[in-house]
Amino acid sequence: MHCSVKTGNPVKLPTDCLVLGVFTGRILTPSAVAVDEASAGSLRRALAKSALDGAAGKTVMFYELAGVAAERVLMVGLGDAEKLDAAGFRKAAGGAAKALAANQVQEALFALTADAAGPSAYTKARDTVLCAEDANYRFDRLKSKAEQPKVRLERLVLLASGRGAMAELKQGLAHGEAIAEGIQLARDLGNLPGNICTPSYLADEARKLSRLAKLEVQVLEQKDMEELGMGALLSVARGSRQPPKLIVMDYRGGDAKAPPLVLVGKGLTFDAGGISLKPPADMDQMKFDMCGGAAVIGTLAACARLALPLNVVGVVPSSENLPDGNANKPGDVVTSMSGQTIEVLNTDAEGRLILCDALTYCERFKPAAVVDVATLTGACVIALGHHPSGLFANDDALAAELLAAGEDTGDRAWRLPLWEDYQEAMDSNFADMANIGGKSAGAIIGACFLARYTRSLKWAHLDIAGTAWNTGKEKGSTGRPVRLLTQWLIRGAKTGA
Ligand code: BES
Ligand code: MN
Ligand code: ZN
Repeated sequence: MHCSVKTGNPVKLPTDCLVLGVFTGRILTPSAVAVDEASAGSLRRALAKSALDGAAGKTVMFYELAGVAAERVLMVGLGDAEKLDAAGFRKAAGGAAKALAANQVQEALFALTADAAGPSAYTKARDTVLCAEDANYRFDRLKSKAEQPKVRLERLVLLASGRGAMAELKQGLAHGEAIAEGIQLARDLGNLPGNICTPSYLADEARKLSRLAKLEVQVLEQKDMEELGMGALLSVARGSRQPPKLIVMDYRGGDAKAPPLVLVGKGLTFDAGGISLKPPADMDQMKFDMCGGAAVIGTLAACARLALPLNVVGVVPSSENLPDGNANKPGDVVTSMSGQTIEVLNTDAEGRLILCDALTYCERFKPAAVVDVATLTGACVIALGHHPSGLFANDDALAAELLAAGEDTGDRAWRLPLWEDYQEAMDSNFADMANIGGKSAGAIIGACFLARYTRSLKWAHLDIAGTAWNTGKEKGSTGRPVRLLTQWLIRGAKTGA
């Protein structure tokens, strides 16, 4: 999709489709008022006959309004005029983007970015681009014949209120495009099945990103992991015919001496549970168990495209978890890179086994902060559902930053405790710890396990089991939490963190 910013009169600019806003009670935005006046009140009259009263995200399309250069006019509800915030604007932009797709519009002029109400011009531009790219997203590369309509939104023009607003809108647009590319990459990797997206495939896709400026990609092989003593990670890979990979992406946009922010993503390309085999229903969805890794790869790509003045490292431990004669067995004891020993009571709690070694590996970067992202527990979905990701942190300031980045972008997280009280659930008679606790608080136990490997780090953990993909008719990767992570990095770049 080609995106641009323009100034001008919405009445006179020729376009396939002009997108205008209306508040609750059919209160028109200034650009809609201009169009209504140019059309001798026909916009207001048509609107009065429609079902659209201004509810956020609802739309109606009008054709052939006299006196207006646009071929069609899409009116979109913005909700209450006094209450328009970033979330309401996203709802409106999302509704408009879906309507444009449904109506097979190829080129659209968004006037919503020219009206003063609501969030900043930067946010409006960024979120409009993200909504449009989201509505355009298809994953049809594995279908033998394309079944979707060929017509897509190809050109998106954002209207600026004047020359002064251009720079801010352009920046929002550039950020939106870079973030959208990161999201698309994360979604594509997530949607690819386990027989294609193996650890080696994931590593090759990450390697391709080294064409981006200041981004270097290195892949550690099984023998490297053996030398480092990554006994926990390697134990998970033993049951698979696919060799494990540890992907390390190093983006150096900041000062050479500035300590990096490190992102770690679970890259389990298929989780059958191992010997503690999962039940068959919905097991296909365990191809999404690498979505944390995909989000980290997508975020690093976005970072490099944004040329953020920061140092960011992405680390993705990648393996399959399958049953096999060589696989982990319940009761096996493995030694992690940290030296701590683990009794593997359930081979299906494998995410923490690959992550603990990846987290220990991160110590070498002397990071300013480490954030891991993982589809770690089904229990997190039970606790929080599919709206927020679960957030855990051993540092309140870091937790607050991540929560704020989530609120800013609508890619929200909700904090759960990491109290020491939970640790005893993992007591083992045979090793330093077991890899599972009791029946309760599964998401917290998973996080508390990781906390034992991050005591020397400023660290947070995002459990994305409920947010990384949609189920049902909309089954597919969401690309979350790329928006949250990129926003956190953009903010960090501004404050010099
Ligand atoms: N990848 C799963 C977690 C998961 C399950 C995410 C379902 C999304 C939907 C993880 O490896 C796992 O199997 N976790 C176990 C942990 C348990 C054995 C302590 C779980 O959640 O059941
Ligand atoms: Mn598992
Ligand atoms: Zn898993």
